[in-house]
Amino acid sequence: MTRLVFVLNGPNLNLLGQRQPHIYGHETLADVEADCRRIAQELRLELRFHQSNREYEVIDWIHEARESAAGIVINPAAFTHTSVAILDALNTFEGTVIECHISNVHKREAFRHHSYVSLRADGVIAGFGTQGYQLALRRVAKLLDEKAN
Ligand code: DQA
Repeated sequence: MTRLVFVLNGPNLNLLGQRQPHIYGHETLADVEADCRRIAQELRLELRFHQSNREYEVIDWIHEARESAAGIVINPAAFTHTSVAILDALNTFEGTVIECHISNVHKREAFRHHSYVSLRADGVIAGFGTQGYQLALRRVAKLLDEKAN
């Protein structure tokens, strides 16, 4: 069985480390990717790591994941709160979906409290900083291991 996992990041996350560091911290997306690669190796997961400011690109990666991946870890960023199209794409994916937010969206503005993606996600992580990505990968790996046994 495939152990390929897509880690997808939505708009403005390319500016991680520079963007509102009091909310999102000082780590860059390259740091997050490096952490994810280290954890993936430990967990024997194969990883694809992407970021885009364009909704259609995120959708295209979800379509790619449909054909090859066991899981998707997605921080849809602002698309979380707006994108029925990303929800529809995730609904075509049969593997595990973990929604991951760096900040605790529930502690923030009311418009961040609603997530379209949560209607599909098997689990949601919010407010664990960039460590959330590592926890999400651990969860995907655990579910895969359970399925394999
Ligand atoms: C975010 C939270 C979203 O509300 C926001 O639009 C983001 C980042 C997070 O990781 O905390 O861009 O997804």
